[in-house]
Amino acid sequence: MSAPFGRRACEVTDSHASGGYRVFSLLDLEGPEPRPGQFYMLATESHWAQGGGRPFLPRAFSAADADPLDGGIRLDFLIEGIGPGTDRLCKLEEGERVWLNGPLGNSFSAPRELSAGAAGAILVGGGIGIAPLALLRRRFSAANVPARVLLGFRDKAHSGGLDDLFRCCEVALASDDGHIGHHGYVTDLLATMLEGDDAGSAVVYACGPPPMLDAVAALCRSHGVVAELAMESPMACGFGACFGCAVPRADGDGYIRLCVDGPVVRGA
Ligand SMILES: Cc1cc2nc3c(=O)[nH]c(=O)nc-3n(C[C@H](O)[C@H](O)[C@H](O)COP(=O)(O)OP(=O)(O)OC[C@H]3O[C@@H](n4cnc5c(N)ncnc54)[C@H](O)[C@@H]3O)c2cc1C
Ligand code: FES
Repeated sequence: MSAPFGRRACEVTDSHASGGYRVFSLLDLEGPEPRPGQFYMLATESHWAQGGGRPFLPRAFSAADADPLDGGIRLDFLIEGIGPGTDRLCKLEEGERVWLNGPLGNSFSAPRELSAGAAGAILVGGGIGIAPLALLRRRFSAANVPARVLLGFRDKAHSGGLDDLFRCCEVALASDDGHIGHHGYVTDLLATMLEGDDAGSAVVYACGPPPMLDAVAALCRSHGVVAELAMESPMACGFGACFGCAVPRADGDGYIRLCVDGPVVRGA
């Protein structure tokens, strides 16, 4: 089922700090339910583009969780305040309304769709990129797909979402400053895991900053492991009209629009 045409106003049902990030929930009365990796274009109903100022356009955000309720779907978003749009969303209060367009884009594939012999999944998230992996993990868990989760953060101020989005699941952590988990990169944990006997039977799913995604793709290539990466680029429309999100294909054969051909792409 595709997203309803146009934007719709959804009420904020919860908003709270989650470590250095913020989690808020919207009640979407129309749906459909998002698939893991899909995103929404969001803008607050009030104090957005006031007097033509920034933030002007809506911003893209991954669905971090989604739960069907009586009469709607609860959507959770994980936000890091880094500019006018995210700062405004971080200040949302219960009862306010948010303009929402989506779910948009493609989604992560099941392990068997990517590799016939795949028995399980390894999820690798960095920073705010852990958001789409939370919904992916929940769906894998519901489908009894074994999934191991590796998450990394820069420092304490740039980390969060664990208690809200990854509760009741085992997570291996890394941090650049050593404040939690392994002192180093999350890709160190992935490298160790891929050295293991069963590496070839896994598919890797990753979302995070570009250098992390490059490192994940290179590790997976060298171990012959299939990877899917959720990427980001600045998005103005979110549905293929503006070409603002175009990124070059790795094979040099033109460009893809990340909002419609992604945000999930094959690691190769
Ligand atoms: C598919 C998708 C899913 C996303 N999911 C989330 C999410 O779950 N949580 C979250 O907090 N953020 C997410 N983002 C990122 C978020 O949309 C941007 O950071 C947003 O533009 C911030 O808006 P702003 O007005 O706060 O800051 P802006 O003023 O728009 O940006 C601040 C700085 O970040 C840079 N920047 C902005 N967007 C991007 C981008 N997409 N890629 C690289 N650099 C960028 C700008 O050049 C600028 O320097 C997602 C982006 C995409 C494309
Ligand atoms: S954001 Fe407009 S074409 Fe992708």
